[in-house]
Amino acid sequence: MSKISMTVNGKSVSGEVEGRTLLVEFLREDLKLTGTHVGCDTSQCGACTVHVDGKQVKSCTMFAAEADGAEVKTIEGEANADGSLSVVQQAFQDYHGLQCGFCTPGMVMAATALLGKNPKPTELEIREHLEGNICRCTGYHNIVKAIMAASGQDVPAVAAE
Ligand code: FES
Ligand code: FES
Repeated sequence: MSKISMTVNGKSVSGEVEGRTLLVEFLREDLKLTGTHVGCDTSQCGACTVHVDGKQVKSCTMFAAEADGAEVKTIEGEANADGSLSVVQQAFQDYHGLQCGFCTPGMVMAATALLGKNPKPTELEIREHLEGNICRCTGYHNIVKAIMAASGQDVPAVAAE
């Protein structure tokens, strides 16, 4: 076991983990931040997406010990300080970018990361960015629309709709 410390959603946290403990396990089981989901555990679905030092990471692909000293942001840290939904979260609600909601935390974290580096992405850029995030329900169109809206762009009918 080794002791680790990191900042999660602006708060300092620490814990004891085994070398094999994944970041997603530390977040969900030790910190009880269960908004980060596990859909596959094999790096394919993106449900476990968080930000580590500002970069989008699938938290099932990283050991908790590797995040020692890092700044981590999860879906629980996405809302505004007053508890209102973030622009991206609100757009997902407004454009019905979710159905069962299982993929949604990962989708929102992926979308936030995209808009952080590309504030006005094209539809194609959004679709390419979401390649690592699987949604079994929506068919993706409304997710794409939500991200277009969150970026302040017009929301045209999307391709292949
Ligand atoms: S649980 Fe991490 S990619 Fe699916
Ligand atoms: S809303 Fe159900 S998996 Fe995406």
